[in-house]
Amino acid sequence: MVPRIQLHDGHEIPQLGFGVWKAASGECYKAVRSALDAGYRHIDTARIYGNEEDVGRAIRDSGIARSEIYVTTKLWNTDQARAESAFAGSLERLGLDYIDLYLIHFPVTKSRAAAWQALENIHASGKVRSIGVSNYMPKHLDELLGAAKIKPVVNQIELHPWLSQTELKNYCESRGISIEAYSPLAHGQKVEDLSLKPLAEKYGKTVAQVLLRWSIQKGNIVLVKSVSPARIAENFAIFDFEIDAQDMAKLDSMNENLRTCWDPSGTP
Ligand SMILES: NC(=O)c1ccc[n+]([C@@H]2O[C@H](COP(=O)([O-])OP(=O)(O)OC[C@H]3O[C@@H](n4cnc5c(N)ncnc54)[C@H](OP(=O)(O)O)[C@@H]3O)[C@@H](O)[C@H]2O)c1
Repeated sequence: MVPRIQLHDGHEIPQLGFGVWKAASGECYKAVRSALDAGYRHIDTARIYGNEEDVGRAIRDSGIARSEIYVTTKLWNTDQARAESAFAGSLERLGLDYIDLYLIHFPVTKSRAAAWQALENIHASGKVRSIGVSNYMPKHLDELLGAAKIKPVVNQIELHPWLSQTELKNYCESRGISIEAYSPLAHGQKVEDLSLKPLAEKYGKTVAQVLLRWSIQKGNIVLVKSVSPARIAENFAIFDFEIDAQDMAKLDSMNENLRTCWDPSGTP
């Protein structure tokens, strides 16, 4: 049901993923079980979220084959100088033999170049299928692409109609780097947006579903988080309708550079 996107290294990734930032340990286990029951097959965690153990346990207990579930985790900023041991720690906490996608979480000025070389070494070990980055601006990617042996498969960035990131998205896509859109509901701040209620009613959907569908139709890989089984199911029910061109254009015109998470533009 969920479309798959082919990354430039040939691996495929489910276009809708389930994020677990701010899902506390314990709560995260239940949320991932609910997500897998609802049909999600792509989980996005990070060392800094403190819930890799829960994610791994939920995957094992689900009984779903490991090969059917796409798992991403991320190298935290303060671990960038020791990426290989940080990766080993993530693998151990997840209790997995391999990770599908390992990302540099943020482009820390002094350590990101060495961290990318370390990710290339980890990739050569076969314990991660694909490597990528998060929160990189064009200047960070220019630097990386000038030195890299392997090009990142994705750039995971905040993206929703109020932060459309058009320039960065065009930069990445013209270089074969796929966009992963995090905080597609503007970190929950826009699910009650009154201006979008009539649009949601037109499609018989919720505002959250319209926001997720917009991002899917933009071709992004979309990562959404919830710990509520009802909202987890709601966020998955976005493949049975299509936003028309006029409404897509309306959503496209709403950018106001609203950031609810990091702002990497000032990071040299
Ligand atoms: N790489 C990075 O630096 C980075 C940064 C931020 C996020 N991410 C990733 O992207 C994922 C998603 O982003 P996010 O967690 O910031 O925000 P989000 O998915 O935009 O929004 C999550 C918030 O919206 C609420 N929510 C979810 N579905 C809803 C619905 N249908 N109706 C009403 N409220 C709803 C959730 O509350 P409940 O849980 O109570 O439902 C939660 O408070 C993260 O979990 C993480 O995996 C990555």
